[in-house]
Amino acid sequence: MNLRFTEEQEMMRKMVRDFAQTEIAPFVDKMEKGEFPREILKKMGELGLMGIPIPEQYGGSEMDFTSYIIAINEISKVSATVGVILSVHTSVGTNPIVYFGTEEQKQKYVPKLASGEYLGAFCLTEPSAGSDAGSLKSKAVKKEDHYIINGSKVFITNGGEADVYIVFASTNPELGSKGVSAFIVEKDTPGLIIGKDEHKMGLHGSRTLQLSFEDMKVPAENLLGKEGEGFKIAMANLDVGRIGIASQALGIAEAALEAATNYAKERVQFGKPIAAQQGVGFKLADMATAVEGAKLLVYRAANLRQNNLKCGKEASMAKLFASKTAVEVTTEAIQVFGGYGYTEDYPVERYFRDAKITEIYEGTSEIQRLVISKQL
Ligand code: CAA
Repeated sequence: MNLRFTEEQEMMRKMVRDFAQTEIAPFVDKMEKGEFPREILKKMGELGLMGIPIPEQYGGSEMDFTSYIIAINEISKVSATVGVILSVHTSVGTNPIVYFGTEEQKQKYVPKLASGEYLGAFCLTEPSAGSDAGSLKSKAVKKEDHYIINGSKVFITNGGEADVYIVFASTNPELGSKGVSAFIVEKDTPGLIIGKDEHKMGLHGSRTLQLSFEDMKVPAENLLGKEGEGFKIAMANLDVGRIGIASQALGIAEAALEAATNYAKERVQFGKPIAAQQGVGFKLADMATAVEGAKLLVYRAANLRQNNLKCGKEASMAKLFASKTAVEVTTEAIQVFGGYGYTEDYPVERYFRDAKITEIYEGTSEIQRLVISKQL
């Protein structure tokens, strides 16, 4: 196992780190007030960041998968909001078309998604089908040259902002998860109803919406894969998507560790910096060790994916551990800051609020354990 990044990957890290510092950091306060980072996404598109692993023939940057994971990591250190938008757009908003689309579908949608002209979203979760995603109730009925889709979705990241939605609905409810099909749905499709905007604990600049489909008419040529292949398409893309979320969680944890370490070196109590007090120094040591462990799992999973090797179990391990690390490290970072950490004057309270969701979306930690244990 090569534990060093290539020169190209290091260049990607530097480029994204600079971009995050100069373009994203000044916008964080606005995102915290709920503003969606449209302008930032446009600039990311111009730099090729909205299609990092997508083949050049479909307008992507065709860089290796690890470079993509590095980009999410660096962006999430500054803004977990932009990190999740990028991860959802690429891993589960664009990749399903790249991997399962027909040539016509790829030509029609992928270049626009990879350039950032279009934003992607992924519509799997329903009010009564969260962890048990295969039990979804949305139905698609074929009528001549189109499908009529009825149902509702919840917690759709990029909802309302996205131009293309990967929608999962059952074409054969009797077959359970084997009756689920996937569709490419454009934002202006009649019957696609944008619903309630969720007010979340964190990730304030990202949009999370309810959607409903009321006799939504989708052309038959927008079926992705074959009828009944939808659940496998969802699962296969989540395998990869989970590495992105793990990288986001890692970025949040790294940012919190850095903030806590810097603060502990400056804050003097009992005549010396608190970093030199064993209670705080040992805390920082544990935080740094957990971050390093998360980093190894994240980049190990990315490396498997990059080499087209099975990575479902490793992706789940990376997400499970990195999200747990993010929650623990951000909690401890607030502790290091003491009362100041509980105020909005320092970023650690934001890191703490942003970290929690990484244990929930793209499969809860309990679901990651299920995936891992099934494969043991
Ligand atoms: N790749 C390909 N196929 C897969 C697969 C994978 N990783 N996992 C399962 N399958 C296939 C199985 O092989 C099986 O097919 P066969 O019978 O032909 O072999 C079929 O799918 C059903 O498999 P299971 O019986 O294992 O499925 P299940 O109903 O028990 O569910 C589960 C498995 C892992 C719990 C799954 O439901 C799951 O991942 N749940 C969590 C859902 C989730 O992650 N939601 C995230 C929403 S998106 C999001 O959060 C984005 C965002 O906004 C940030």
